[in-house]
Amino acid sequence: MKNRRDFLKDVCPTVAFAFFGVSFIQACASGDDDVATSNPNNGGNTNSGTNYNIDLTSSSYSALATVGGWVNAGPAGIPVLLLRISASKINAYTNVCPHQGINNRWSLVGDSFKCAQHGNSYATDCNSALTCFTTSQSGDTLTITIP
Ligand code: FES
Repeated sequence: MKNRRDFLKDVCPTVAFAFFGVSFIQACASGDDDVATSNPNNGGNTNSGTNYNIDLTSSSYSALATVGGWVNAGPAGIPVLLLRISASKINAYTNVCPHQGINNRWSLVGDSFKCAQHGNSYATDCNSALTCFTTSQSGDTLTITIP
């Protein structure tokens, strides 16, 4: 089985662009697949993924002060749902519905996030199809790492 890079080398000639369109051009760019990235929202952190730092004292995240409180950080440019699951832990979940990839249609119903697009629910225990990302907290700063 070919890896992604070998596949792209084989299919990148002009004819492949005709089939896959302009977005395919980026996939054919040279360089490592696992380049370090940084984000202007991450306080200068750099790693193999993207770190987002959130100031928990911001009124935008005040719902996270209470266990069971949640925030969709998507409108702030951070593609996660945040849920305080205990006094010391805030979980981060993808904002992309595992069913058909819809964003921002979420509500919290009991212990599950429910997508209003088709009504699917995903448990918040990080064992469902709804991907959880690593979080850590230092003082009032929550850091989310998206691989
Ligand atoms: S896209 Fe979310 S339930 Fe279908």
